[in-house]
Amino acid sequence: MDDAYSDPSTEWEEHADWWRANFTEGMDPEYEEQLLPLLRELVAPTLGDRILDAGCGEGQVARLFAESGAGTIGCDLSEAQLAAASSFRGPERGVSPLSPLYVRGSLEALPVRGGVFDASVAVLVLEHVAAVEEAIEELARVTRRGGRVVVVLNHPLFQTPDSGWIDDRILEESYWRVGPYLAEQATLEEVDRGVFLTFHHRPLSRYLNAFVDAGLAIERVLEPHPPPGFLALAPAYAQSSDIPRVLAVVCRRVATEK
Ligand SMILES: C[S@@+](CC[C@H](N)C(=O)[O-])C[C@H]1O[C@@H](n2cnc3c(N)ncnc32)[C@H](O)[C@@H]1O
Repeated sequence: MDDAYSDPSTEWEEHADWWRANFTEGMDPEYEEQLLPLLRELVAPTLGDRILDAGCGEGQVARLFAESGAGTIGCDLSEAQLAAASSFRGPERGVSPLSPLYVRGSLEALPVRGGVFDASVAVLVLEHVAAVEEAIEELARVTRRGGRVVVVLNHPLFQTPDSGWIDDRILEESYWRVGPYLAEQATLEEVDRGVFLTFHHRPLSRYLNAFVDAGLAIERVLEPHPPPGFLALAPAYAQSSDIPRVLAVVCRRVATEK
């Protein structure tokens, strides 16, 4: 790990407004065209289900489940994100009365009882968590036997630090560069002007082995193409349309409750 690691909770207090303005409420084609429909399909929430959205942010995924009738709890470290999530409550926002409940807490020590949820999800969160094995154990612990754990990650192979589309005009080559894949590291990345966030890069095997060690059976792995609305944002995106941006893993809790 390098020295870039800072406290992610502080980062997300500072950047909650940025996240909300750019990635929620229809602003982000990846969420609108891909992640939200995919999560609805993979989790298939129905009336009476109990679902945990761990690292819920301002609650766009939690709201999706709650609006389907599932009893949904969103948990996040950031007070600013949770304040944004809570502001969606109420008929003046046009939101269903079936709103999620929100609780402050960390993925490494989820403040909920074990074996309670039919499904637990963590969407674009684990790459911000240093103690990833603890977080995955916690997702497994709170999920009932036979329930699902659904994780969406920035693709650990293709979205490494220093990865990206290279257009080499001298050598007349265009390709997707993969950074140092096996080197585990925390990097403070400037994802937008003045917006610095800590990302933990680790190889795919570390995630998959953590699922297995936590008593989770991997049922399905998805590497979708970036959606059309995202590819339309920049020529480099369109050229790299065969490089996945996200990886989704669907697991089933097979071990007995701890
Ligand atoms: C990229 S946002 C994703 C939010 C939400 N899952 C979504 O898809 O809209 C990452 C969120 O993870 C939260 N987070 C980061 N580290 C966390 C931790 N250790 N425990 C709980 N939440 C955490 C941040 O506060 C932030 O709201």
